Amino acid sequence: MMGLRSKDLLGLEHLTREEIELILDTAVPCKQIFTRDIRKLPTLRGKTMVNLFYEPSTRTRTSFELAGKWMSADVINIVASSSSVVKGESLKDTVRTLESLGANIVVMRHSAAGAPHFLAKSVEAAVVNAGDGAHEHPTQALLDLFTIRERKGRIEGLEVVIVGDILHSRVARSNIWGLTKLGASVTVVGPPTLIPPEIEKIGAKVSYDLDEAIRHADVINVLRIQLERQKKGLFPSMREYVSLYGINRERLTRAKEDVLVLHPGPANLGVEITQEVAESHCSAISEQVTNGVAVRMAILYLVSAGGKRHEAAS
Ligand code: CP
Repeated sequence: MMGLRSKDLLGLEHLTREEIELILDTAVPCKQIFTRDIRKLPTLRGKTMVNLFYEPSTRTRTSFELAGKWMSADVINIVASSSSVVKGESLKDTVRTLESLGANIVVMRHSAAGAPHFLAKSVEAAVVNAGDGAHEHPTQALLDLFTIRERKGRIEGLEVVIVGDILHSRVARSNIWGLTKLGASVTVVGPPTLIPPEIEKIGAKVSYDLDEAIRHADVINVLRIQLERQKKGLFPSMREYVSLYGINRERLTRAKEDVLVLHPGPANLGVEITQEVAESHCSAISEQVTNGVAVRMAILYLVSAGGKRHEAAS
């Protein structure tokens, strides 16, 4: 496998197993940059990368910025709340502006599913989806896969439980695509109102009993509960949610001793996960953030090479 088939990275649904493995393998040497005195590679020198964020972000935006800067790209950040978007600029106008700026790579987060796909069709630049509505968050899933593979040594044959608000979760969807393509078995768990019926069609099993599901789990990926959902009546009460679906030390005694706990962040500590578990040896939450930079470096490298990529990233 010499490269990605598309100029863009829009989701895991349409990536092959080989493409996913290529990204994960490319991220391994990228991670070595953390141990260097001088964190700078020439790989993207002369390239312009635009971070175009229509929704808030801490981890994804900063790690893309760091990944771009460590690879010597010129990085521009456009945040919708402080750009001409608030004056009514349309996505089409923004596209024209990006083309005039000569952007080579655009990293986009948008509340509308499909917005990065629209952009990708309209610009020559490589477009990377940093989260589109409740559709996909491919770079989060790739860093989750990287972290699992690093900690467990494999993905094939693992049992992964994803717990929380599956209905609104782009992280869950991208994880299901990626994990099943790499041979893991995925069970989603949450309140019935937050599990979409069609989720089984994309390869996940469904359970409403977390204690039963985690007994066989090698990995538990805990999703952020979007607190505004409670106002809409999608789960009964916070107390009940914590009792049925919260990950705490007592509950983890029912899981395997070496179970790995992930959370994409930001976490509501004391709700979907306790601080004690988040900071325990079974949690890889901090590593996920570090690995996010390495995985995003790999993605920037692969999309920037645009079909003629052969050399290693370092
Ligand atoms: N996991 C994640 O996407 O976090 P941010 O919203 O902070 O980017």
